[in-house]
Amino acid sequence: MREFVHSGHLVRTVFGTGTLGRLREEAEALGRTRALILTTPTRTALVEQAREALGALTAGEFTGARMHTPVDVTERALEAVRETGADCLVALGGGSAVGLSKALAVRTGLPQVVVPTTYAGSEATPVLGETRDGVKTTRSAPEIRPRTILYDVSLTLNLPVRTSVTSGVNAMAHAVEALYAPQPDPITDELALRAIRLLASALPRIAADPGDGEARADALEAAWLAGTCLGTVGMGLHHKLCHTLGGSFGLPHADTHTVVLPHAMAYNAPAAEDAMRRIARALSGPGSGPAPDAPTAVYDLITALDGPRSLRDLGMTAEDLPRAVELATATPYPNPRPVTADGIAALLQDAWSGHRPPPGDPLAAQLHTLLGEVTSSFDRAPDPRTRQLLTDLVRHLHGFAADNDLTQAEWNLAIEFLTRTGHLSGPTRQEFILLSDTLGVSSAVDVLTNSRTAEATPSAVLGPFYVEGPPPRAHGDDIAAGLDGAPLYVDVRVTDIEGAPIADAVVDVWQANADGFYDVQLPDQDGPVLRARFHTDADGGLVFWSLVPVPYPIPADGPVGRLLDATARHPFRAPHVHFMIGAPGRKTLITQLFVAGGQYIDDDTVFGVKDALVVDYPEQKGPTPDGRAVDGPWHRLTYTFRLAPGA
Ligand code: BEZ
Ligand code: FE
Repeated sequence: MREFVHSGHLVRTVFGTGTLGRLREEAEALGRTRALILTTPTRTALVEQAREALGALTAGEFTGARMHTPVDVTERALEAVRETGADCLVALGGGSAVGLSKALAVRTGLPQVVVPTTYAGSEATPVLGETRDGVKTTRSAPEIRPRTILYDVSLTLNLPVRTSVTSGVNAMAHAVEALYAPQPDPITDELALRAIRLLASALPRIAADPGDGEARADALEAAWLAGTCLGTVGMGLHHKLCHTLGGSFGLPHADTHTVVLPHAMAYNAPAAEDAMRRIARALSGPGSGPAPDAPTAVYDLITALDGPRSLRDLGMTAEDLPRAVELATATPYPNPRPVTADGIAALLQDAWSGHRPPPGDPLAAQLHTLLGEVTSSFDRAPDPRTRQLLTDLVRHLHGFAADNDLTQAEWNLAIEFLTRTGHLSGPTRQEFILLSDTLGVSSAVDVLTNSRTAEATPSAVLGPFYVEGPPPRAHGDDIAAGLDGAPLYVDVRVTDIEGAPIADAVVDVWQANADGFYDVQLPDQDGPVLRARFHTDADGGLVFWSLVPVPYPIPADGPVGRLLDATARHPFRAPHVHFMIGAPGRKTLITQLFVAGGQYIDDDTVFGVKDALVVDYPEQKGPTPDGRAVDGPWHRLTYTFRLAPGA
């Protein structure tokens, strides 16, 4: 049984586009009247926008924020707080501005409104990392947590692609480590998985089109979610390494996160298998085939986005490595896999040289690479729909194989089954249609293709027994031609969806005999029977005689029959009459009318029954409507078909 403790924190969060315009309102909501704007030296245009938004609430600005929050910068900013008499802080920008704001807040108790323009996520945490003399220290306190976060997607549209990628991977790192944190809880897990999903989808879109507002919104939302994870549960090895490398070697924060994340994940993978599987699923998205190996998938994503991959490229020297190992292992901290000096040395060596980390799950990595090769083989298909359908089919097939750990013998059996299905298919026996029908795929495609007009009569599967060009018959004819069975007087009308009659509609009808066989199944049957083509009269009406349909088995002497046997399923169809109705300007309706109360109505072997198609075939006594002489009782079928507009 699971146990967890979740400490939620209410941080007011305003998310949208153009929300910077609400800055004054948000500062006033905190009861404040003098805001000090904090940012980095290059953000002059943003400062102007913030000044405008704050109006008379602007107390001043301090634009000297720097990476890693050096204490001497904080001390200069404190003077600005005193000089301006500020009663609240407004931070604009990424981790540097937010870090400075937190450093000031913890020293002054002033409330903060932060406007993040990157995906670092520190706005959502009560954690402050500061550097003094090259050493980074971290502390946590409630007053460090900003009171209000204001996300304005439009401010992120110009974030360079490279920064978007590194900052996005920084956010992803919070989510990844949240999933194997020592105190997991379901809320944080879900936030983390959504953050990973959003980032994996948004970052490639941003790289392709930096101005893609939807992708920017996805990434910014992910940043918020990931930051919330960071502010809720403890982080592990990856964050420790990045703090060490950033604080003690001056490496750029987000770039370092980007380089280290796949390697820290590979290190932890053997001790966090479940988390890695969930991360892998989130990275690849639903229905995308076998989940990849999470660490290599993150590395490959960064590579595809042309993000930084080696500490060497970030300016770290090989001589720095032993000291980094020493710092990273100096104090114990929670991590799924025990942190050893040798282990960290190997990890950092990999991250320094920048090669792909060894897969945590080599099988998953191999399957994922294979799938990628197959799907990209369709990239040059000239027809986009062909490309889409084949790519997705292959993804599902590979996912099916992987999810079920399919064996060679099982797959051989499937191939054999399909081979027999093919051998049995021809002009008079279509075993593939039967297979599609009994797996419910025909009904699924039928729903997708034909059920878009709610007011029209529902369709139902065509089945294998329709024959093109049925014999023409006149109103009142008996299509059973004297065969045994309960006589049925059919009285139907064809209208449009408003109920207006459709004259001269072509109505094809076919059904099985009283023994449950169609004419085409009977070797001794000479010519068509129980099938006909009619035309409706001026009022859309049609009457004819036939037989009350009975349940019948679909052909079960082939591979489909074996499939039904193997799954303890019966081969029976609920009793029905088939109709195919066409008229100019109308969508052709292919459907069946089922006998209410008939056997297998709730258990049709091809999943063809729909409520609106189940109708009474009531028994009648006495004279027939057209004066035809009938021995004993007869039945009546009355129905109105409504055709949808269309070709
Ligand atoms: C039919 O109703 O004729 C039918 C439909 C699907 C499979 C077999 C038969
Ligand atoms: Fe049928």
